[in-house]
Amino acid sequence: MKNITTNIYAIGGFAAIAGIMFGFDIGSNSGVIGTEQYREYFHRPDAVLQGGINGALSAGCFVGALCAGFPADRYSRKFTLIGASALFIIGSLFQAVANGVPLLCVGRVINGISVGITSMVVPLYQSEVSPKEIRGRIVSVQQWSITWGIMISFWIQYGSQFIPGTAAFRIPWAVQSVPAFILVAGMWAFPHSPRWLADKGRMDEAIKVLADIHGHGDVDHPRVQIEIKEIEAAIQFDREQASHRYADIFKPGLAYRVFLGVCLQIWQQLTGMNIIMFYVVYLFEQAGIGDSQEARLVSSGVSYVVNVVMTVPAILFVDKWGRRPTMILGALGMSVFLWTVGGILSTGQWSLDPNTGKSVVYLNNPSESKGVVACIYLFVATFATTWGPLGWIYPAEIFPLRVRALAVSLSTAANWFFNWLLNFIVPILMEKIHYGLYMLFAAFNFLMALHIYISYPETKGYTLEEMDIVFQHNPRKKIDPETLQQWITEKGLQKA
Ligand code: BGC
Repeated sequence: MKNITTNIYAIGGFAAIAGIMFGFDIGSNSGVIGTEQYREYFHRPDAVLQGGINGALSAGCFVGALCAGFPADRYSRKFTLIGASALFIIGSLFQAVANGVPLLCVGRVINGISVGITSMVVPLYQSEVSPKEIRGRIVSVQQWSITWGIMISFWIQYGSQFIPGTAAFRIPWAVQSVPAFILVAGMWAFPHSPRWLADKGRMDEAIKVLADIHGHGDVDHPRVQIEIKEIEAAIQFDREQASHRYADIFKPGLAYRVFLGVCLQIWQQLTGMNIIMFYVVYLFEQAGIGDSQEARLVSSGVSYVVNVVMTVPAILFVDKWGRRPTMILGALGMSVFLWTVGGILSTGQWSLDPNTGKSVVYLNNPSESKGVVACIYLFVATFATTWGPLGWIYPAEIFPLRVRALAVSLSTAANWFFNWLLNFIVPILMEKIHYGLYMLFAAFNFLMALHIYISYPETKGYTLEEMDIVFQHNPRKKIDPETLQQWITEKGLQKA
Protein backbone atom coordinates (compact mmCIF):
# COMPACT_ATOMS: atom_id res chain seq x y z
CA MET A 1 0.00 0.00 0.00
CA LYS A 2 1.24 3.42 -0.91
CA ASN A 3 2.44 5.30 2.12
CA ILE A 4 -0.05 8.01 3.02
CA THR A 5 2.71 10.52 3.74
CA THR A 6 3.76 10.50 0.08
CA ASN A 7 0.27 11.11 -1.25
CA ILE A 8 0.15 14.66 -2.56
CA TYR A 9 -3.38 15.27 -1.26
CA ALA A 10 -2.43 14.01 2.19
CA ILE A 11 0.71 16.18 2.26
CA GLY A 12 -1.06 19.32 1.05
CA GLY A 13 -4.10 18.61 3.21
CA PHE A 14 -2.12 18.01 6.38
CA ALA A 15 -0.10 21.21 6.04
CA ALA A 16 -3.38 23.01 5.37
CA ILE A 17 -4.52 22.28 8.93
CA ALA A 18 -2.60 25.46 9.73
CA GLY A 19 -5.34 27.29 7.84
CA ILE A 20 -7.72 26.42 10.66
CA MET A 21 -5.46 28.32 13.05
CA PHE A 22 -5.51 31.25 10.60
CA GLY A 23 -9.32 31.10 10.51
CA PHE A 24 -9.56 30.95 14.30
CA ASP A 25 -7.54 34.14 14.41
CA ILE A 26 -9.82 35.94 11.96
CA GLY A 27 -12.91 34.60 13.74
CA SER A 28 -11.70 35.33 17.25
CA ASN A 29 -12.51 39.02 16.76
CA SER A 30 -16.24 38.69 16.46
CA GLY A 31 -17.96 36.53 19.04
CA VAL A 32 -16.23 36.71 22.41
CA ILE A 33 -15.81 40.45 22.80
CA GLY A 34 -19.53 41.09 22.80
CA THR A 35 -20.28 38.74 25.71
CA GLU A 36 -21.05 40.04 29.18
CA GLN A 37 -18.63 37.50 30.71
CA TYR A 38 -15.70 38.89 28.70
CA ARG A 39 -16.63 42.51 29.28
CA GLU A 40 -17.01 42.08 33.01
CA TYR A 41 -13.79 40.11 33.51
CA PHE A 42 -11.65 42.52 31.48
CA HIS A 43 -13.25 45.62 33.08
CA ARG A 44 -15.21 46.75 30.05
CA PRO A 45 -12.38 47.79 27.74
CA ASP A 46 -13.20 51.00 25.89
CA ALA A 47 -13.09 51.21 22.09
CA VAL A 48 -9.42 52.20 21.97
CA LEU A 49 -8.28 49.44 24.29
CA GLN A 50 -10.45 46.90 22.49
CA GLY A 51 -8.98 48.10 19.21
CA GLY A 52 -5.53 47.49 20.67
CA ILE A 53 -6.48 43.98 21.86
CA ASN A 54 -7.88 43.16 18.39
CA GLY A 55 -4.95 44.73 16.60
CA ALA A 56 -2.38 42.82 18.70
CA LEU A 57 -3.20 39.79 16.61
CA SER A 58 -2.85 41.21 13.12
CA ALA A 59 0.23 43.17 14.20
CA GLY A 60 1.74 39.83 15.28
CA CYS A 61 0.74 38.31 11.94
CA PHE A 62 2.48 41.11 10.08
CA VAL A 63 5.71 40.61 12.03
CA GLY A 64 5.49 36.82 11.71
CA ALA A 65 4.97 36.95 7.94
CA LEU A 66 7.79 39.43 7.51
CA CYS A 67 10.28 37.32 9.46
CA ALA A 68 9.28 33.93 8.08
CA GLY A 69 11.43 33.99 4.93
CA PHE A 70 14.69 33.41 6.78
CA PRO A 71 13.76 30.29 8.81
CA ALA A 72 11.87 28.87 5.81
CA ASP A 73 15.07 29.01 3.78
CA ARG A 74 17.51 28.15 6.56
CA TYR A 75 15.68 25.48 8.56
CA SER A 76 13.21 24.29 5.92
CA ARG A 77 9.56 24.93 5.20
CA LYS A 78 8.58 21.87 7.24
CA PHE A 79 10.41 22.72 10.48
CA THR A 80 9.30 26.35 10.28
CA LEU A 81 5.72 25.13 10.11
CA ILE A 82 6.22 22.85 13.11
CA GLY A 83 7.90 25.63 15.11
CA ALA A 84 5.15 28.11 14.30
CA SER A 85 2.50 25.60 15.37
CA ALA A 86 4.26 25.09 18.71
CA LEU A 87 4.18 28.86 19.12
CA PHE A 88 0.42 28.82 18.54
CA ILE A 89 -0.03 26.36 21.42
CA ILE A 90 1.87 28.69 23.75
CA GLY A 91 -0.12 31.73 22.58
CA SER A 92 -3.45 29.97 23.04
CA LEU A 93 -2.41 28.87 26.52
CA PHE A 94 -1.57 32.45 27.50
CA GLN A 95 -4.95 33.61 26.26
CA ALA A 96 -6.87 30.81 27.94
CA VAL A 97 -5.30 31.52 31.36
CA ALA A 98 -5.17 35.33 30.93
CA ASN A 99 -5.73 37.15 34.21
CA GLY A 100 -5.96 40.54 32.56
CA VAL A 101 -5.45 42.51 29.37
CA PRO A 102 -1.60 42.35 29.31
CA LEU A 103 -1.40 38.55 29.27
CA LEU A 104 -4.27 38.41 26.80
CA CYS A 105 -2.35 40.73 24.47
CA VAL A 106 0.86 38.73 24.84
CA GLY A 107 -1.06 35.60 23.88
CA ARG A 108 -2.61 37.32 20.90
CA VAL A 109 0.70 38.68 19.63
CA ILE A 110 2.25 35.19 19.91
CA ASN A 111 -0.68 33.62 18.07
CA GLY A 112 -0.43 36.35 15.47
CA ILE A 113 3.26 35.72 14.89
CA SER A 114 2.49 32.04 14.47
CA VAL A 115 -0.28 32.64 11.94
CA GLY A 116 1.84 35.19 10.08
CA ILE A 117 4.50 32.51 9.65
CA THR A 118 2.17 29.68 8.70
CA SER A 119 0.19 31.80 6.24
CA MET A 120 3.42 32.38 4.36
CA VAL A 121 5.04 28.98 4.68
CA VAL A 122 2.05 26.70 3.94
CA PRO A 123 1.28 27.95 0.38
CA LEU A 124 5.03 27.97 -0.28
CA TYR A 125 5.43 24.36 0.86
CA GLN A 126 2.26 23.25 -0.92
CA SER A 127 3.22 24.80 -4.22
CA GLU A 128 6.70 23.31 -4.03
CA VAL A 129 5.47 19.76 -3.48
CA SER A 130 2.62 19.89 -6.01
CA PRO A 131 2.64 18.86 -9.65
CA LYS A 132 1.79 21.86 -11.82
CA GLU A 133 -1.59 20.44 -12.91
CA ILE A 134 -3.09 20.54 -9.42
CA ARG A 135 -0.96 23.19 -7.73
CA GLY A 136 -3.89 25.63 -7.50
CA ARG A 137 -6.11 22.96 -6.04
CA ILE A 138 -3.64 21.98 -3.32
CA VAL A 139 -3.11 25.59 -2.23
CA SER A 140 -6.90 26.15 -2.29
CA VAL A 141 -7.20 23.51 0.40
CA GLN A 142 -5.44 25.85 2.82
CA GLN A 143 -8.01 28.53 1.98
CA TRP A 144 -10.72 25.99 2.66
CA SER A 145 -9.22 25.33 6.09
CA ILE A 146 -9.21 29.05 6.76
CA THR A 147 -12.92 29.23 6.02
CA TRP A 148 -13.56 26.22 8.28
CA GLY A 149 -11.56 27.89 11.04
CA ILE A 150 -13.56 31.12 10.77
CA MET A 151 -16.85 29.23 10.78
CA ILE A 152 -15.98 26.89 13.63
CA SER A 153 -14.71 29.70 15.82
CA PHE A 154 -17.85 31.75 15.19
CA TRP A 155 -20.16 28.92 16.18
CA ILE A 156 -18.00 27.85 19.16
CA GLN A 157 -18.16 31.40 20.42
CA TYR A 158 -21.86 31.49 19.72
CA GLY A 159 -22.36 28.36 21.84
CA SER A 160 -19.95 29.43 24.58
CA GLN A 161 -21.76 32.67 25.32
CA PHE A 162 -24.38 30.61 27.13
CA ILE A 163 -21.76 29.15 29.51
CA PRO A 164 -21.63 31.13 32.75
CA GLY A 165 -18.39 32.67 34.02
CA THR A 166 -14.99 32.97 32.41
CA ALA A 167 -15.31 29.59 30.69
CA ALA A 168 -17.33 31.49 28.05
CA PHE A 169 -14.07 32.87 26.63
CA ARG A 170 -11.47 30.51 28.11
CA ILE A 171 -12.95 27.49 26.34
CA PRO A 172 -12.85 28.98 22.81
CA TRP A 173 -9.31 30.26 23.38
CA ALA A 174 -8.10 26.89 24.63
CA VAL A 175 -9.88 24.87 21.93
CA GLN A 176 -8.13 26.84 19.20
CA SER A 177 -4.86 25.06 20.02
CA VAL A 178 -6.20 21.66 18.85
CA PRO A 179 -5.07 21.98 15.18
CA ALA A 180 -1.68 23.23 16.36
CA PHE A 181 -1.22 20.09 18.47
CA ILE A 182 -2.12 17.93 15.48
CA LEU A 183 0.43 19.71 13.29
CA VAL A 184 3.23 19.55 15.84
CA ALA A 185 2.61 15.86 16.37
CA GLY A 186 2.11 14.81 12.75
CA MET A 187 4.06 17.07 10.42
CA TRP A 188 7.34 15.24 11.18
CA ALA A 189 6.09 12.28 9.17
CA PHE A 190 5.69 14.31 5.98
CA PRO A 191 8.52 15.04 3.54
CA HIS A 192 10.54 18.20 3.13
CA SER A 193 9.87 20.35 0.08
CA PRO A 194 11.92 18.76 -2.73
CA ARG A 195 12.79 22.20 -4.06
CA TRP A 196 14.13 23.30 -0.68
CA LEU A 197 16.17 20.07 -0.44
CA ALA A 198 17.60 20.63 -3.90
CA ASP A 199 18.46 24.22 -3.07
CA LYS A 200 20.37 22.97 -0.02
CA GLY A 201 22.37 20.62 -2.21
CA ARG A 202 20.58 17.54 -0.84
CA MET A 203 19.81 16.33 -4.34
CA ASP A 204 19.50 12.63 -3.48
CA GLU A 205 16.82 13.32 -0.90
CA ALA A 206 15.07 15.72 -3.28
CA ILE A 207 14.97 13.04 -5.96
CA LYS A 208 13.60 10.51 -3.51
CA VAL A 209 10.80 12.86 -2.43
CA LEU A 210 9.90 13.67 -6.04
CA ALA A 211 9.91 9.98 -6.93
CA ASP A 212 7.71 9.13 -3.94
CA ILE A 213 5.23 11.90 -4.62
CA HIS A 214 5.05 11.97 -8.40
CA GLY A 215 6.42 8.61 -9.56
CA HIS A 216 5.15 5.92 -7.18
CA GLY A 217 8.68 5.63 -5.81
CA ASP A 218 10.22 5.20 -9.26
CA VAL A 219 13.17 7.54 -9.76
CA ASP A 220 13.17 6.86 -13.50
CA HIS A 221 9.54 7.81 -13.96
CA PRO A 222 9.53 10.30 -16.87
CA ARG A 223 7.73 13.01 -14.93
CA VAL A 224 10.20 12.70 -12.04
CA GLN A 225 13.12 12.93 -14.45
CA ILE A 226 11.70 16.02 -16.14
CA GLU A 227 11.15 17.72 -12.82
CA ILE A 228 14.60 16.89 -11.50
CA LYS A 229 16.21 18.28 -14.65
CA GLU A 230 14.16 21.44 -14.44
CA ILE A 231 14.93 22.01 -10.79
CA GLU A 232 18.64 21.32 -11.30
CA ALA A 233 18.78 23.67 -14.27
CA ALA A 234 16.95 26.39 -12.39
CA ILE A 235 19.26 26.10 -9.40
CA GLN A 236 22.32 26.07 -11.61
CA PHE A 237 21.03 29.12 -13.46
CA ASP A 238 20.31 30.89 -10.19
CA ARG A 239 23.80 30.14 -8.91
CA GLU A 240 25.53 31.35 -12.07
CA GLN A 241 23.43 34.40 -12.80
CA ALA A 242 22.28 35.54 -9.44
CA SER A 243 24.89 37.29 -7.41
CA HIS A 244 23.37 37.73 -4.00
CA ARG A 245 20.27 35.75 -3.27
CA TYR A 246 18.16 38.26 -1.46
CA ALA A 247 19.58 41.38 -3.07
CA ASP A 248 18.17 40.04 -6.34
CA ILE A 249 14.75 41.04 -5.18
CA PHE A 250 15.64 44.62 -6.05
CA LYS A 251 16.77 43.85 -9.60
CA PRO A 252 14.42 45.40 -12.17
CA GLY A 253 12.60 42.31 -13.52
CA LEU A 254 12.24 40.66 -10.16
CA ALA A 255 11.38 43.83 -8.26
CA TYR A 256 8.40 44.22 -10.59
CA ARG A 257 7.31 40.66 -9.92
CA VAL A 258 7.57 41.27 -6.17
CA PHE A 259 5.49 44.41 -6.68
CA LEU A 260 2.81 42.35 -8.46
CA GLY A 261 2.80 39.78 -5.62
CA VAL A 262 2.50 42.50 -2.98
CA CYS A 263 -0.26 44.30 -4.91
CA LEU A 264 -2.20 41.09 -5.34
CA GLN A 265 -2.20 40.44 -1.61
CA ILE A 266 -3.22 44.04 -0.90
CA TRP A 267 -6.01 43.77 -3.47
CA GLN A 268 -7.20 40.60 -1.75
CA GLN A 269 -7.81 42.65 1.40
CA LEU A 270 -9.34 45.52 -0.59
CA THR A 271 -12.00 43.19 -1.99
CA GLY A 272 -13.75 44.07 1.27
CA MET A 273 -14.20 40.47 2.37
CA ASN A 274 -13.08 41.29 5.88
CA ILE A 275 -15.75 43.98 6.23
CA ILE A 276 -18.05 40.99 6.25
CA MET A 277 -15.83 38.56 8.16
CA PHE A 278 -15.23 41.02 11.01
CA TYR A 279 -18.28 43.25 10.99
CA VAL A 280 -21.20 41.43 9.41
CA VAL A 281 -23.04 41.39 12.77
CA TYR A 282 -22.58 45.14 13.01
CA LEU A 283 -23.66 45.66 9.39
CA PHE A 284 -26.86 43.67 9.93
CA GLU A 285 -27.50 45.60 13.14
CA GLN A 286 -26.97 48.92 11.37
CA ALA A 287 -29.37 47.95 8.59
CA GLY A 288 -31.95 46.64 11.06
CA ILE A 289 -31.86 43.16 9.59
CA GLY A 290 -33.51 40.46 11.72
CA ASP A 291 -35.88 41.03 14.63
CA SER A 292 -33.50 40.11 17.43
CA GLN A 293 -29.77 39.88 18.18
CA GLU A 294 -30.19 36.11 18.06
CA ALA A 295 -31.65 36.25 14.54
CA ARG A 296 -28.89 38.59 13.41
CA LEU A 297 -26.21 36.28 14.75
CA VAL A 298 -27.72 33.40 12.86
CA SER A 299 -27.93 35.39 9.59
CA SER A 300 -24.31 36.45 10.13
CA GLY A 301 -23.28 32.87 10.85
CA VAL A 302 -24.77 31.82 7.52
CA SER A 303 -22.22 33.97 5.67
CA TYR A 304 -19.43 31.92 7.26
CA VAL A 305 -21.13 28.73 6.09
CA VAL A 306 -21.46 30.12 2.55
CA ASN A 307 -17.73 30.89 2.67
CA VAL A 308 -16.89 27.26 3.47
CA VAL A 309 -19.24 25.74 0.91
CA MET A 310 -18.31 28.04 -1.95
CA THR A 311 -14.59 27.40 -1.60
CA VAL A 312 -15.23 23.85 -2.81
CA PRO A 313 -15.75 24.83 -6.49
CA ALA A 314 -12.35 26.52 -6.38
CA ILE A 315 -10.70 23.36 -5.09
CA LEU A 316 -12.32 21.37 -7.88
CA PHE A 317 -11.92 23.75 -10.80
CA VAL A 318 -9.36 26.48 -10.17
CA ASP A 319 -6.71 24.69 -12.23
CA LYS A 320 -9.13 24.44 -15.15
CA TRP A 321 -10.41 28.01 -15.05
CA GLY A 322 -7.01 29.67 -14.99
CA ARG A 323 -5.85 32.42 -12.66
CA ARG A 324 -6.62 35.47 -14.81
CA PRO A 325 -10.28 34.86 -15.68
CA THR A 326 -11.02 33.72 -12.13
CA MET A 327 -9.60 36.89 -10.62
CA ILE A 328 -11.06 39.27 -13.22
CA LEU A 329 -14.57 37.83 -13.12
CA GLY A 330 -14.43 37.44 -9.34
CA ALA A 331 -13.51 41.08 -8.83
CA LEU A 332 -16.18 42.30 -11.28
CA GLY A 333 -18.81 40.14 -9.58
CA MET A 334 -17.88 41.41 -6.12
CA SER A 335 -17.92 44.96 -7.42
CA VAL A 336 -21.50 44.56 -8.64
CA PHE A 337 -22.70 43.01 -5.36
CA LEU A 338 -21.09 45.68 -3.18
CA TRP A 339 -22.39 48.43 -5.42
CA THR A 340 -25.89 47.01 -5.04
CA VAL A 341 -25.56 46.84 -1.23
CA GLY A 342 -24.39 50.47 -1.21
CA GLY A 343 -27.19 51.42 -3.59
CA ILE A 344 -29.91 49.85 -1.47
CA LEU A 345 -28.54 51.32 1.76
CA SER A 346 -28.36 54.77 0.14
CA THR A 347 -32.12 54.82 -0.33
CA GLY A 348 -32.85 54.36 3.42
CA GLN A 349 -33.16 57.00 6.17
CA TRP A 350 -29.92 57.34 8.10
CA SER A 351 -29.94 58.61 11.70
CA LEU A 352 -28.23 58.20 15.05
CA ASP A 353 -29.63 55.67 17.49
CA PRO A 354 -30.08 57.70 20.70
CA ASN A 355 -29.44 54.60 22.88
CA THR A 356 -26.17 53.48 21.34
CA GLY A 357 -24.99 56.68 19.68
CA LYS A 358 -24.34 54.66 16.52
CA SER A 359 -25.67 55.17 13.00
CA VAL A 360 -28.65 53.16 11.86
CA VAL A 361 -30.52 53.05 8.60
CA TYR A 362 -34.24 52.48 8.16
CA LEU A 363 -34.91 50.75 4.89
CA ASN A 364 -38.15 51.40 3.08
CA ASN A 365 -39.45 47.87 2.87
CA PRO A 366 -38.54 44.30 3.90
CA SER A 367 -37.57 43.28 0.39
CA GLU A 368 -34.71 45.79 0.55
CA SER A 369 -33.36 44.09 3.69
CA LYS A 370 -33.59 40.77 1.91
CA GLY A 371 -31.74 42.27 -1.05
CA VAL A 372 -28.89 43.41 1.21
CA VAL A 373 -28.60 39.98 2.83
CA ALA A 374 -28.72 38.22 -0.56
CA CYS A 375 -26.01 40.48 -2.01
CA ILE A 376 -23.78 39.93 1.03
CA TYR A 377 -24.09 36.16 0.64
CA LEU A 378 -23.43 36.40 -3.10
CA PHE A 379 -20.42 38.60 -2.44
CA VAL A 380 -19.01 36.09 0.08
CA ALA A 381 -19.67 33.22 -2.33
CA THR A 382 -17.81 35.03 -5.11
CA PHE A 383 -14.81 35.80 -2.91
CA ALA A 384 -14.74 32.19 -1.71
CA THR A 385 -14.52 30.73 -5.21
CA THR A 386 -12.13 33.32 -6.60
CA TRP A 387 -9.96 35.74 -4.64
CA GLY A 388 -9.90 33.73 -1.42
CA PRO A 389 -7.77 30.92 -2.85
CA LEU A 390 -6.11 32.97 -5.62
CA GLY A 391 -4.75 35.48 -3.11
CA TRP A 392 -2.57 32.67 -1.79
CA ILE A 393 -2.01 30.58 -4.93
CA TYR A 394 -0.60 33.28 -7.19
CA PRO A 395 2.14 34.84 -5.00
CA ALA A 396 3.39 31.39 -3.96
CA GLU A 397 4.00 30.30 -7.53
CA ILE A 398 5.53 33.26 -9.33
CA PHE A 399 9.00 33.68 -7.78
CA PRO A 400 12.27 31.88 -8.54
CA LEU A 401 13.50 29.57 -5.82
CA ARG A 402 16.40 31.72 -4.64
CA VAL A 403 14.11 34.54 -3.49
CA ARG A 404 10.81 32.68 -3.23
CA ALA A 405 10.60 32.49 0.55
CA LEU A 406 11.56 36.12 1.03
CA ALA A 407 9.26 37.41 -1.70
CA VAL A 408 6.29 35.37 -0.47
CA SER A 409 6.99 36.63 3.01
CA LEU A 410 6.88 40.25 1.80
CA SER A 411 3.60 39.79 -0.05
CA THR A 412 2.03 37.94 2.87
CA ALA A 413 3.13 40.71 5.24
CA ALA A 414 1.40 43.23 2.94
CA ASN A 415 -1.80 41.20 3.25
CA TRP A 416 -1.60 41.28 7.05
CA PHE A 417 -0.81 44.99 7.13
CA PHE A 418 -3.97 45.77 5.19
CA ASN A 419 -5.91 43.27 7.26
CA TRP A 420 -4.84 45.22 10.36
CA LEU A 421 -5.63 48.56 8.71
CA LEU A 422 -9.14 47.50 7.68
CA ASN A 423 -9.81 46.13 11.12
CA PHE A 424 -9.42 49.66 12.45
CA ILE A 425 -10.77 51.74 9.63
CA VAL A 426 -13.91 49.85 8.65
CA PRO A 427 -15.94 50.58 11.81
CA ILE A 428 -14.99 54.26 11.50
CA LEU A 429 -16.01 54.36 7.83
CA MET A 430 -19.26 52.58 8.63
CA GLU A 431 -20.09 55.47 10.95
CA LYS A 432 -18.74 58.26 8.79
CA ILE A 433 -19.51 57.42 5.17
CA HIS A 434 -22.30 54.88 5.71
CA TYR A 435 -23.27 53.26 2.40
CA GLY A 436 -20.29 54.98 0.73
CA LEU A 437 -18.11 52.28 2.30
CA TYR A 438 -19.59 49.63 0.01
CA MET A 439 -19.26 51.86 -3.02
CA LEU A 440 -15.63 52.57 -2.17
CA PHE A 441 -14.85 48.87 -2.03
CA ALA A 442 -16.89 48.27 -5.18
CA ALA A 443 -14.53 50.73 -6.86
CA PHE A 444 -11.48 48.90 -5.49
CA ASN A 445 -12.82 45.66 -6.97
CA PHE A 446 -13.27 47.29 -10.34
CA LEU A 447 -9.72 48.65 -10.24
CA MET A 448 -8.22 45.31 -9.31
CA ALA A 449 -10.01 43.62 -12.22
CA LEU A 450 -8.39 46.20 -14.47
CA HIS A 451 -4.98 45.74 -12.90
CA ILE A 452 -5.15 41.96 -13.30
CA TYR A 453 -6.25 42.32 -16.91
CA ILE A 454 -3.38 44.66 -17.75
CA SER A 455 -0.48 43.26 -15.75
CA TYR A 456 -0.87 39.70 -14.48
CA PRO A 457 0.10 36.81 -16.78
CA GLU A 458 -1.64 33.45 -16.68
CA THR A 459 0.38 30.99 -14.57
CA LYS A 460 -1.86 27.95 -14.79
CA GLY A 461 -0.16 24.87 -16.19
CA TYR A 462 3.44 26.09 -15.96
CA THR A 463 6.02 24.63 -13.60
CA LEU A 464 7.52 26.91 -10.97
CA GLU A 465 10.75 26.86 -12.95
CA GLU A 466 8.98 28.17 -16.07
CA MET A 467 7.72 31.33 -14.38
CA ASP A 468 10.71 33.32 -15.63
CA ILE A 469 9.52 33.09 -19.22
CA VAL A 470 5.91 33.59 -18.17
CA PHE A 471 6.87 36.94 -16.70
CA GLN A 472 9.07 37.99 -19.61
CA HIS A 473 6.11 37.62 -21.91
CA ASN A 474 3.16 39.91 -22.71
CA PRO A 475 0.75 39.23 -19.81
CA ARG A 476 -2.28 39.38 -22.07
CA LYS A 477 -1.03 36.83 -24.60
CA LYS A 478 -0.55 33.10 -24.32
CA ILE A 479 3.01 31.86 -24.83
CA ASP A 480 3.10 29.78 -27.98
CA PRO A 481 4.41 26.25 -27.37
CA GLU A 482 7.40 26.67 -29.68
CA THR A 483 8.75 29.71 -27.87
CA LEU A 484 8.28 27.87 -24.59
CA GLN A 485 10.09 24.79 -25.84
CA GLN A 486 12.93 26.89 -27.21
CA TRP A 487 13.30 28.69 -23.92
CA ILE A 488 13.32 25.42 -21.96
CA THR A 489 15.98 23.97 -24.23
CA GLU A 490 18.10 27.10 -23.92
CA LYS A 491 17.85 26.99 -20.19
CA GLY A 492 18.85 23.35 -20.26
CA LEU A 493 21.78 24.18 -22.57
CA GLN A 494 22.90 26.89 -20.26
CA LYS A 495 23.26 24.25 -17.63
CA ALA A 496 25.44 22.07 -19.88
C1 BGC B 1 -8.03 36.23 3.62
C2 BGC B 1 -8.57 36.62 4.95
C3 BGC B 1 -10.06 36.41 4.95
C4 BGC B 1 -10.39 34.98 4.58
C5 BGC B 1 -11.86 34.76 4.44
C6 BGC B 1 -8.36 34.79 3.38
O1 BGC B 1 -7.85 34.36 2.15
O2 BGC B 1 -6.64 36.43 3.57
O3 BGC B 1 -8.24 37.96 5.23
O4 BGC B 1 -10.61 36.70 6.19
O5 BGC B 1 -9.75 34.62 3.39
O6 BGC B 1 -12.17 33.46 4.04
